[in-house]
Amino acid sequence: MKVTVVGAGNVGATCADVLATREIANEIVLVDIKEGIAEGKALDIWQKAPIIGYDSRTVGVTNDYARTAGSDVVVITSGLPRKPGMSRDDLISVNAGIVKSVTEQVVAHSPNAIIIIVSNPLDVMTYQAHLTAKLPREKVFGMAGILDTARYRAFLAEALNVSPKDIQAVLMGGHGDTMVPLPRYTTVGGIPVTELIGKAELDAIVQRTAQGGGELVKLMGTSAWYAPGAAAAQMVEAIVRDQRRVFPVCLELQGEYGINGVYLGAPVILGKNGVERVIELQLNDEEKALLETSRGHVKEVMDALDKMGQPA
Ligand code: LMR
Repeated sequence: MKVTVVGAGNVGATCADVLATREIANEIVLVDIKEGIAEGKALDIWQKAPIIGYDSRTVGVTNDYARTAGSDVVVITSGLPRKPGMSRDDLISVNAGIVKSVTEQVVAHSPNAIIIIVSNPLDVMTYQAHLTAKLPREKVFGMAGILDTARYRAFLAEALNVSPKDIQAVLMGGHGDTMVPLPRYTTVGGIPVTELIGKAELDAIVQRTAQGGGELVKLMGTSAWYAPGAAAAQMVEAIVRDQRRVFPVCLELQGEYGINGVYLGAPVILGKNGVERVIELQLNDEEKALLETSRGHVKEVMDALDKMGQPA
């Protein structure tokens, strides 16, 4: 399997490293616009192979999309990360142009690839890529649900002093402060989380999860990369190994949850065809109201993108 990661910044390089280290693809191409960066990081990952013991071949190129031709999966991480004080939505105008031009190149060289968007603002950049790629939504979708769920699971594991592996959870909605964690669907080794933790503590964890990206931006002066890169790699793995994993991903809802034409996180089955199925949960009134708030927010940013017109 051949996987391309576009953008050799922190997130893209981490994603390529996880793909190589876990031998998720036998050929990994890392692309960046800055001369030498992708080549250098890919070479470094390749030189780690004898130490850790893997044989995925990682190569880097500067803007040479011909080298990415025939990729099975492409992860797009290109674009600016946010700085302290910025919201993800503040990145829309600059990142829309970048995501559009990268998507054009990707589709021209790998027309059958499944495309995973990681650039922010995630939901609206998935919309941008979907508009540009002109492929079915099953083949163009965004990574955020796995990341947001991982943060929620990590916070819960800490609070309960249990392994994060035993925490199962799903989140819905946009990748931002209006995301919708679903405690009703959260279990710890099969036990409903609400039997193990009080409401106030759980509410605080939900709140911290919604602002999880911002917490890291404040600490580091730039966006996170280890968990985002690993989350994208986990999606690639589900596809290239046809695992049929159940993950929340961002995609265009087409009538599910009573929502049409808005890009939001929802649980899906991920396999060799990309999104194999969208799962519709029976949300209660409170959860529906939260999802509606998230829908409204993402739609506003989608409308802002539409008003700007398509980047040249
Ligand atoms: C994240 O959640 O870590 C990413 O969306 C990056 C960011 O700016 O928060």
